[in-house]
Amino acid sequence: MNNIIRIWLIVFTAIYGVSCSRVLELSDKFIDISGDGMWFVKFYAPWCAHCRRIEPIWAHVAQSLYNSHIKVAKVDCTSIKGSHHHEYNGERMKDDMVNYAVRMSQPAVQRVTQADSFGYLKETHPIFFGFVGKQQGPLWDMFIIHADKYQPHTWFYAMSHDIVKNELNPPNDSAIFVYKEEESFFFGAHPGLLEDNEALNNTLDKWINSERFGFFPKITRSNINHLMDTEKYIVIAVVSENKLSEITQTERDFKDMIEGIIRQKRKTLHSRFQFGWMGSLELANSIAMYELTVPHLLVLNSTTSHHHMPDDDPVLMTPEAVLMFLDQIHNQVAPVYGGNSWPVRVYRGLFEARTTLASMWRGNPVLTALVFGLPLGFLSLICYSVCCADILDAEEEEVAETHEKND
Ligand SMILES: *[C@@H]1O[C@H](CO)[C@@H](O)[C@H](O)[C@H]1NC(C)=O
Ligand SMILES: *[C@@H]1O[C@H](CO)[C@@H](O)[C@H](O)[C@H]1NC(C)=O
Ligand SMILES: *[C@@H]1O[C@H](CO)[C@@H](O)[C@H](O)[C@H]1NC(C)=O
Repeated sequence: MNNIIRIWLIVFTAIYGVSCSRVLELSDKFIDISGDGMWFVKFYAPWCAHCRRIEPIWAHVAQSLYNSHIKVAKVDCTSIKGSHHHEYNGERMKDDMVNYAVRMSQPAVQRVTQADSFGYLKETHPIFFGFVGKQQGPLWDMFIIHADKYQPHTWFYAMSHDIVKNELNPPNDSAIFVYKEEESFFFGAHPGLLEDNEALNNTLDKWINSERFGFFPKITRSNINHLMDTEKYIVIAVVSENKLSEITQTERDFKDMIEGIIRQKRKTLHSRFQFGWMGSLELANSIAMYELTVPHLLVLNSTTSHHHMPDDDPVLMTPEAVLMFLDQIHNQVAPVYGGNSWPVRVYRGLFEARTTLASMWRGNPVLTALVFGLPLGFLSLICYSVCCADILDAEEEEVAETHEKND
Protein backbone atom coordinates (compact mmCIF):
# COMPACT_ATOMS: atom_id res chain seq x y z
CA MET A 1 0.00 0.00 0.00
CA ASN A 2 2.87 2.30 0.86
CA ASN A 3 4.21 1.97 -2.64
CA ILE A 4 1.18 3.74 -3.98
CA ILE A 5 2.44 7.09 -2.81
CA ARG A 6 5.81 7.73 -4.26
CA ILE A 7 7.60 10.87 -3.53
CA TRP A 8 10.25 11.79 -5.98
CA LEU A 9 12.68 14.62 -6.21
CA ILE A 10 12.70 15.44 -9.86
CA VAL A 11 14.54 17.86 -12.07
CA PHE A 12 11.90 19.39 -14.25
CA THR A 13 10.69 22.75 -15.46
CA ALA A 14 7.12 23.60 -16.15
CA ILE A 15 4.29 24.48 -13.84
CA TYR A 16 0.86 23.43 -14.98
CA GLY A 17 -1.82 24.90 -12.81
CA VAL A 18 -1.34 26.44 -9.38
CA SER A 19 -3.56 25.50 -6.48
CA CYS A 20 -4.27 27.79 -3.54
CA SER A 21 -1.80 26.13 -1.14
CA ARG A 22 1.99 26.29 -1.52
CA VAL A 23 1.79 22.86 -3.14
CA LEU A 24 1.63 23.14 -6.91
CA GLU A 25 -0.74 20.82 -8.71
CA LEU A 26 0.94 19.47 -11.84
CA SER A 27 -0.70 17.73 -14.75
CA ASP A 28 0.98 14.70 -16.33
CA LYS A 29 2.04 16.88 -19.29
CA PHE A 30 4.81 18.50 -17.26
CA ILE A 31 6.76 15.28 -17.54
CA ASP A 32 7.42 15.91 -21.23
CA ILE A 33 9.03 19.26 -20.58
CA SER A 34 12.41 19.09 -18.91
CA GLY A 35 15.00 21.75 -18.17
CA ASP A 36 16.36 23.50 -15.13
CA GLY A 37 14.78 23.78 -11.70
CA MET A 38 14.48 21.39 -8.76
CA TRP A 39 11.18 19.78 -7.87
CA PHE A 40 10.02 17.75 -4.88
CA VAL A 41 6.96 15.96 -6.17
CA LYS A 42 4.36 13.79 -4.45
CA PHE A 43 2.68 11.26 -6.70
CA TYR A 44 -0.70 10.29 -5.41
CA ALA A 45 -3.95 8.57 -6.22
CA PRO A 46 -7.11 10.33 -5.02
CA TRP A 47 -8.59 7.12 -3.59
CA CYS A 48 -5.53 6.21 -1.53
CA ALA A 49 -5.89 6.69 2.24
CA HIS A 50 -2.11 6.89 2.81
CA CYS A 51 -1.95 9.78 0.34
CA ARG A 52 -4.69 11.67 2.14
CA ARG A 53 -2.91 11.22 5.45
CA ILE A 54 0.28 12.76 4.07
CA GLU A 55 -1.62 15.75 2.59
CA PRO A 56 -1.29 18.12 5.63
CA ILE A 57 2.37 17.16 6.14
CA TRP A 58 3.00 17.84 2.48
CA ALA A 59 1.48 21.32 2.82
CA HIS A 60 3.91 22.01 5.68
CA VAL A 61 6.84 20.77 3.60
CA ALA A 62 5.80 23.18 0.85
CA GLN A 63 5.55 26.01 3.37
CA SER A 64 9.05 25.32 4.74
CA LEU A 65 10.61 25.16 1.28
CA TYR A 66 8.66 28.13 -0.11
CA ASN A 67 11.63 30.52 0.00
CA SER A 68 14.11 27.99 -1.36
CA HIS A 69 14.82 27.11 -4.99
CA ILE A 70 13.06 23.77 -4.53
CA LYS A 71 9.47 23.73 -5.74
CA VAL A 72 7.03 21.41 -4.01
CA ALA A 73 4.33 19.85 -6.11
CA LYS A 74 1.94 16.93 -6.44
CA VAL A 75 0.88 14.91 -9.45
CA ASP A 76 -2.22 12.79 -9.75
CA CYS A 77 -0.84 9.95 -11.81
CA THR A 78 0.92 6.65 -11.52
CA SER A 79 3.34 6.51 -14.48
CA ILE A 80 6.41 8.65 -14.96
CA LYS A 81 9.27 8.98 -17.42
CA GLY A 82 11.47 11.37 -15.41
CA SER A 83 15.04 12.16 -16.42
CA HIS A 84 16.87 12.36 -13.13
CA HIS A 85 15.06 11.42 -9.96
CA HIS A 86 15.60 10.08 -6.45
CA GLU A 87 12.89 8.29 -4.57
CA TYR A 88 12.22 9.21 -0.94
CA ASN A 89 11.89 6.16 1.30
CA GLY A 90 12.18 7.73 4.73
CA GLU A 91 9.72 8.61 7.43
CA ARG A 92 6.64 10.63 6.51
CA MET A 93 7.70 13.49 8.77
CA LYS A 94 7.91 17.11 7.75
CA ASP A 95 11.48 17.77 8.91
CA ASP A 96 12.83 14.56 7.43
CA MET A 97 11.28 15.34 4.07
CA VAL A 98 12.45 18.97 4.00
CA ASN A 99 16.00 17.94 4.93
CA TYR A 100 15.95 15.27 2.28
CA ALA A 101 14.87 17.68 -0.45
CA VAL A 102 17.46 20.28 0.52
CA ARG A 103 20.22 17.66 0.68
CA MET A 104 19.45 16.00 -2.64
CA SER A 105 19.41 19.37 -4.40
CA GLN A 106 23.09 19.94 -3.52
CA PRO A 107 26.36 18.13 -4.23
CA ALA A 108 26.85 15.11 -1.94
CA VAL A 109 30.01 16.60 -0.38
CA GLN A 110 29.97 20.29 0.43
CA ARG A 111 33.15 22.20 1.06
CA VAL A 112 33.31 24.31 4.17
CA THR A 113 35.65 27.28 3.79
CA GLN A 114 34.69 29.86 6.38
CA ALA A 115 36.20 29.67 9.83
CA ASP A 116 32.89 30.05 11.66
CA SER A 117 31.02 27.50 9.51
CA PHE A 118 31.76 24.62 11.83
CA GLY A 119 29.79 26.21 14.64
CA TYR A 120 26.90 26.77 12.27
CA LEU A 121 26.94 23.13 11.15
CA LYS A 122 26.88 21.99 14.78
CA GLU A 123 23.88 24.15 15.52
CA THR A 124 21.86 23.13 12.47
CA HIS A 125 22.70 19.42 12.05
CA PRO A 126 22.26 16.87 14.82
CA ILE A 127 24.49 14.50 12.80
CA PHE A 128 26.93 14.99 9.93
CA PHE A 129 30.06 13.40 8.52
CA GLY A 130 33.20 15.43 7.85
CA PHE A 131 36.48 15.03 6.02
CA VAL A 132 39.48 16.96 7.35
CA GLY A 133 42.68 17.48 5.38
CA LYS A 134 43.99 17.36 1.81
CA GLN A 135 41.21 16.48 -0.62
CA GLN A 136 43.08 13.74 -2.48
CA GLY A 137 44.22 10.16 -1.98
CA PRO A 138 42.36 6.91 -1.26
CA LEU A 139 40.54 8.11 1.86
CA TRP A 140 39.16 11.15 0.04
CA ASP A 141 38.10 9.04 -2.98
CA MET A 142 36.23 6.64 -0.71
CA PHE A 143 34.67 9.50 1.21
CA ILE A 144 33.17 10.88 -2.02
CA ILE A 145 31.85 7.47 -3.09
CA HIS A 146 30.14 6.90 0.25
CA ALA A 147 28.82 10.45 0.47
CA ASP A 148 27.01 9.76 -2.80
CA LYS A 149 25.64 6.50 -1.49
CA TYR A 150 24.44 7.88 1.85
CA GLN A 151 23.34 11.33 0.65
CA PRO A 152 19.64 10.41 1.01
CA HIS A 153 20.25 9.74 4.71
CA THR A 154 22.79 12.22 6.00
CA TRP A 155 25.11 15.20 5.37
CA PHE A 156 28.76 15.20 4.24
CA TYR A 157 31.22 18.11 4.48
CA ALA A 158 34.89 18.62 3.66
CA MET A 159 37.12 21.13 5.41
CA SER A 160 40.71 22.01 6.25
CA HIS A 161 42.48 21.40 9.56
CA ASP A 162 42.33 25.12 10.32
CA ILE A 163 38.56 25.17 10.42
CA VAL A 164 38.23 22.39 13.01
CA LYS A 165 41.40 22.83 15.07
CA ASN A 166 39.58 24.63 17.90
CA GLU A 167 36.63 22.23 17.88
CA LEU A 168 37.98 18.75 17.36
CA ASN A 169 41.34 17.16 17.84
CA PRO A 170 42.00 15.77 14.38
CA PRO A 171 45.04 13.61 13.59
CA ASN A 172 47.69 15.37 11.46
CA ASP A 173 46.80 13.43 8.31
CA SER A 174 43.52 13.32 6.47
CA ALA A 175 40.71 11.94 8.58
CA ILE A 176 36.97 11.27 8.53
CA PHE A 177 34.80 12.01 11.54
CA VAL A 178 31.16 11.94 12.48
CA TYR A 179 29.68 14.73 14.56
CA LYS A 180 26.76 13.37 16.52
CA GLU A 181 24.74 15.30 19.08
CA GLU A 182 27.67 17.27 20.58
CA GLU A 183 30.16 14.43 20.36
CA SER A 184 32.58 13.57 17.58
CA PHE A 185 34.15 10.24 16.67
CA PHE A 186 36.96 9.66 14.18
CA PHE A 187 37.08 6.84 11.66
CA GLY A 188 40.09 4.73 12.60
CA ALA A 189 41.97 4.26 9.32
CA HIS A 190 45.38 2.73 9.99
CA PRO A 191 48.00 3.04 7.21
CA GLY A 192 47.56 -0.59 6.07
CA LEU A 193 43.87 -0.04 5.46
CA LEU A 194 44.56 2.88 3.12
CA GLU A 195 46.51 0.58 0.80
CA ASP A 196 43.80 -2.05 0.53
CA ASN A 197 41.01 -0.46 -1.48
CA GLU A 198 38.49 -3.22 -0.92
CA ALA A 199 39.02 -3.40 2.84
CA LEU A 200 38.81 0.39 3.08
CA ASN A 201 35.60 0.34 1.05
CA ASN A 202 33.97 -2.24 3.31
CA THR A 203 35.21 -0.82 6.60
CA LEU A 204 34.19 2.73 5.79
CA ASP A 205 30.80 1.59 4.52
CA LYS A 206 30.13 -0.32 7.74
CA TRP A 207 31.35 2.55 9.88
CA ILE A 208 29.21 5.18 8.15
CA ASN A 209 26.14 2.98 8.30
CA SER A 210 26.65 2.27 11.98
CA GLU A 211 27.37 5.89 12.93
CA ARG A 212 24.71 7.71 10.91
CA PHE A 213 21.97 7.21 13.51
CA GLY A 214 21.45 9.46 16.51
CA PHE A 215 21.99 8.13 20.01
CA PHE A 216 18.29 7.48 20.54
CA PRO A 217 16.33 7.37 17.25
CA LYS A 218 12.74 6.30 16.84
CA ILE A 219 12.77 2.78 15.39
CA THR A 220 10.15 2.03 12.75
CA ARG A 221 9.53 -0.46 9.98
CA SER A 222 11.31 1.88 7.56
CA ASN A 223 14.64 2.06 9.42
CA ILE A 224 14.85 -1.17 11.38
CA ASN A 225 16.56 -3.04 8.54
CA HIS A 226 19.22 -0.31 8.25
CA LEU A 227 19.73 -0.53 12.01
CA MET A 228 20.16 -4.29 11.73
CA ASP A 229 23.10 -3.60 9.37
CA THR A 230 25.00 -1.81 12.14
CA GLU A 231 26.15 -5.15 13.63
CA LYS A 232 25.63 -3.73 17.11
CA TYR A 233 23.16 -4.77 19.77
CA ILE A 234 19.95 -2.77 19.27
CA VAL A 235 18.57 -1.72 22.66
CA ILE A 236 14.91 -0.77 22.30
CA ALA A 237 12.59 0.94 24.76
CA VAL A 238 9.18 -0.32 23.66
CA VAL A 239 6.19 1.95 24.29
CA SER A 240 2.78 2.08 22.66
CA GLU A 241 1.83 5.32 20.93
CA ASN A 242 -1.83 6.05 20.32
CA LYS A 243 -3.13 7.65 17.12
CA LEU A 244 -2.05 11.10 18.35
CA SER A 245 1.49 9.84 19.06
CA GLU A 246 0.88 10.10 22.82
CA ILE A 247 2.22 7.73 25.47
CA THR A 248 1.43 7.30 29.15
CA GLN A 249 3.54 8.89 31.90
CA THR A 250 4.94 5.48 32.99
CA GLU A 251 6.03 4.78 29.43
CA ARG A 252 7.55 8.25 29.11
CA ASP A 253 9.53 7.83 32.36
CA PHE A 254 10.84 4.47 31.19
CA LYS A 255 11.79 5.81 27.76
CA ASP A 256 13.57 8.79 29.36
CA MET A 257 15.41 6.48 31.74
CA ILE A 258 16.74 4.36 28.83
CA GLU A 259 17.68 7.49 26.86
CA GLY A 260 19.51 8.84 29.94
CA ILE A 261 21.70 5.72 30.02
CA ILE A 262 23.03 6.13 26.48
CA ARG A 263 23.46 9.89 26.88
CA GLN A 264 25.54 9.46 30.04
CA LYS A 265 27.57 6.47 28.89
CA ARG A 266 27.78 7.13 25.17
CA LYS A 267 31.60 7.05 25.13
CA THR A 268 31.70 3.48 26.40
CA LEU A 269 28.41 2.08 25.10
CA HIS A 270 27.91 3.52 21.64
CA SER A 271 30.43 1.34 19.79
CA ARG A 272 28.64 -1.84 20.89
CA PHE A 273 25.05 -0.75 21.51
CA GLN A 274 22.66 1.24 19.33
CA PHE A 275 19.87 2.56 21.53
CA GLY A 276 16.44 3.63 20.31
CA TRP A 277 12.74 3.57 21.06
CA MET A 278 9.77 2.02 19.32
CA GLY A 279 6.23 3.40 19.39
CA SER A 280 4.59 0.46 17.64
CA LEU A 281 3.74 -2.42 19.93
CA GLU A 282 2.74 -4.43 16.87
CA LEU A 283 6.28 -4.27 15.46
CA ALA A 284 7.79 -5.11 18.87
CA ASN A 285 5.44 -8.07 19.29
CA SER A 286 6.35 -9.47 15.91
CA ILE A 287 10.05 -9.28 16.83
CA ALA A 288 9.51 -10.85 20.26
CA MET A 289 6.80 -13.25 18.99
CA TYR A 290 5.06 -12.55 22.25
CA GLU A 291 2.36 -10.12 23.42
CA LEU A 292 4.57 -7.67 25.31
CA THR A 293 3.32 -5.41 28.07
CA VAL A 294 4.44 -1.78 27.83
CA PRO A 295 6.81 -0.29 28.58
CA HIS A 296 9.29 -3.04 27.79
CA LEU A 297 12.96 -3.50 27.03
CA LEU A 298 14.05 -5.51 24.00
CA VAL A 299 17.65 -6.06 22.90
CA LEU A 300 18.31 -7.41 19.40
CA ASN A 301 21.51 -9.07 18.28
CA SER A 302 21.76 -7.58 14.80
CA THR A 303 24.03 -10.30 13.40
CA THR A 304 22.01 -13.31 14.50
CA SER A 305 18.54 -11.69 14.88
CA HIS A 306 18.24 -13.23 18.35
CA HIS A 307 16.66 -11.12 21.04
CA HIS A 308 16.98 -10.68 24.78
CA MET A 309 14.41 -9.56 27.34
CA PRO A 310 15.00 -8.85 31.04
CA ASP A 311 13.57 -11.34 33.55
CA ASP A 312 12.44 -8.55 35.86
CA ASP A 313 9.51 -6.25 35.26
CA PRO A 314 11.07 -3.52 33.06
CA VAL A 315 9.10 -0.78 34.84
CA LEU A 316 10.93 -1.57 38.09
CA MET A 317 14.40 -1.61 36.52
CA THR A 318 16.94 1.02 37.56
CA PRO A 319 19.65 2.30 35.16
CA GLU A 320 22.14 0.12 37.08
CA ALA A 321 19.99 -2.96 36.51
CA VAL A 322 19.74 -2.15 32.79
CA LEU A 323 23.53 -1.74 32.56
CA MET A 324 24.01 -5.09 34.31
CA PHE A 325 21.57 -6.67 31.85
CA LEU A 326 23.52 -5.20 28.91
CA ASP A 327 26.77 -6.51 30.41
CA GLN A 328 25.28 -10.00 30.62
CA ILE A 329 24.21 -9.76 26.99
CA HIS A 330 27.64 -8.58 25.92
CA ASN A 331 29.26 -11.45 27.84
CA GLN A 332 26.72 -13.83 26.27
CA VAL A 333 25.34 -15.09 29.58
CA ALA A 334 21.83 -13.60 29.25
CA PRO A 335 18.99 -15.89 28.04
CA VAL A 336 18.58 -15.82 24.24
CA TYR A 337 15.28 -15.99 22.36
CA GLY A 338 14.17 -16.10 18.73
CA GLY A 339 16.68 -15.97 15.91
CA ASN A 340 16.39 -16.90 12.27
CA SER A 341 16.36 -20.72 12.24
CA TRP A 342 13.51 -22.32 10.33
CA PRO A 343 11.42 -23.47 13.34
CA VAL A 344 11.55 -19.90 14.64
CA ARG A 345 10.53 -18.55 11.24
CA VAL A 346 7.58 -20.93 11.09
CA TYR A 347 6.59 -19.90 14.59
CA ARG A 348 6.92 -16.21 13.70
CA GLY A 349 4.76 -16.77 10.60
CA LEU A 350 2.05 -18.42 12.71
CA PHE A 351 2.28 -15.72 15.36
CA GLU A 352 1.91 -12.95 12.77
CA ALA A 353 -0.98 -14.72 11.05
CA ARG A 354 -2.74 -15.03 14.40
CA THR A 355 -2.21 -11.39 15.40
CA THR A 356 -3.23 -10.16 11.93
CA LEU A 357 -6.40 -12.22 12.16
CA ALA A 358 -7.08 -10.95 15.69
CA SER A 359 -6.63 -7.30 14.68
CA MET A 360 -8.79 -7.82 11.57
CA TRP A 361 -11.46 -9.29 13.80
CA ARG A 362 -11.26 -6.31 16.19
CA GLY A 363 -11.41 -3.89 13.24
CA ASN A 364 -14.26 -5.48 11.31
CA PRO A 365 -15.72 -8.79 12.54
CA VAL A 366 -18.32 -9.02 9.77
CA LEU A 367 -15.79 -8.60 6.98
CA THR A 368 -13.36 -11.02 8.65
CA ALA A 369 -16.12 -13.60 9.03
CA LEU A 370 -16.98 -13.17 5.35
CA VAL A 371 -13.37 -13.31 4.13
CA PHE A 372 -12.56 -16.45 6.08
CA GLY A 373 -16.08 -17.84 6.45
CA LEU A 374 -16.93 -17.96 2.74
CA PRO A 375 -13.96 -20.05 1.61
CA LEU A 376 -14.38 -22.27 4.67
CA GLY A 377 -18.05 -22.64 3.81
CA PHE A 378 -17.21 -23.62 0.25
CA LEU A 379 -14.52 -25.98 1.47
CA SER A 380 -16.90 -27.75 3.82
CA LEU A 381 -19.50 -27.94 1.04
CA ILE A 382 -16.94 -29.55 -1.23
CA CYS A 383 -15.83 -31.96 1.52
CA TYR A 384 -19.41 -32.75 2.27
CA SER A 385 -20.26 -33.52 -1.35
CA VAL A 386 -17.08 -35.55 -1.86
CA CYS A 387 -17.43 -37.66 1.31
CA CYS A 388 -21.18 -37.95 1.40
CA ALA A 389 -21.42 -38.74 -2.30
CA ASP A 390 -19.17 -41.77 -1.62
CA ILE A 391 -21.26 -42.88 1.29
CA LEU A 392 -24.50 -42.49 -0.67
CA ASP A 393 -23.05 -44.39 -3.64
CA ALA A 394 -21.84 -47.13 -1.35
CA GLU A 395 -25.22 -47.41 0.33
CA GLU A 396 -26.97 -47.64 -3.02
CA GLU A 397 -24.63 -50.40 -4.12
CA GLU A 398 -25.23 -52.27 -0.88
CA VAL A 399 -28.96 -51.89 -1.32
CA ALA A 400 -28.66 -53.15 -4.87
CA GLU A 401 -26.61 -56.14 -3.69
CA THR A 402 -29.12 -57.12 -1.03
CA HIS A 403 -31.91 -56.90 -3.58
CA GLU A 404 -29.98 -59.26 -5.81
CA LYS A 405 -29.55 -61.73 -2.96
CA ASN A 406 -33.19 -61.58 -2.11
CA ASP A 407 -33.98 -62.37 -5.69
C1 LIG B 1 51.12 16.61 14.62
O1 LIG B 1 52.00 17.65 14.27
C2 LIG B 1 52.48 18.43 15.37
C3 LIG B 1 53.36 19.55 14.86
O2 LIG B 1 53.09 19.86 13.55
C4 LIG B 1 53.25 17.53 16.33
O3 LIG B 1 53.69 18.25 17.45
C5 LIG B 1 52.37 16.39 16.78
O4 LIG B 1 53.10 15.48 17.58
C6 LIG B 1 51.80 15.64 15.57
N1 LIG B 1 50.85 14.65 16.04
C7 LIG B 1 50.82 13.40 15.59
C8 LIG B 1 49.75 12.51 16.17
O5 LIG B 1 51.58 12.98 14.75
C1 LIG C 1 32.67 -0.79 -2.73
O1 LIG C 1 31.86 -1.90 -2.35
C2 LIG C 1 30.59 -1.97 -2.99
C3 LIG C 1 29.86 -3.18 -2.47
O2 LIG C 1 29.80 -3.18 -1.08
C4 LIG C 1 30.78 -2.05 -4.50
O3 LIG C 1 29.50 -2.03 -5.12
C5 LIG C 1 31.60 -0.86 -4.98
O4 LIG C 1 31.83 -0.96 -6.36
C6 LIG C 1 32.92 -0.80 -4.24
N1 LIG C 1 33.63 0.39 -4.64
C7 LIG C 1 34.94 0.44 -4.80
C8 LIG C 1 35.51 1.72 -5.27
O5 LIG C 1 35.66 -0.53 -4.59
C1 LIG D 1 25.40 -11.84 18.50
O1 LIG D 1 25.54 -13.23 18.72
C2 LIG D 1 26.70 -13.82 18.17
C3 LIG D 1 26.64 -15.31 18.42
O2 LIG D 1 26.29 -15.61 19.73
C4 LIG D 1 27.94 -13.15 18.78
O3 LIG D 1 29.10 -13.69 18.18
C5 LIG D 1 27.87 -11.65 18.57
O4 LIG D 1 28.96 -11.02 19.21
C6 LIG D 1 26.59 -11.12 19.14
N1 LIG D 1 26.50 -9.67 19.11
C7 LIG D 1 26.32 -8.87 18.06
C8 LIG D 1 26.20 -7.44 18.29
O5 LIG D 1 26.24 -9.30 16.94
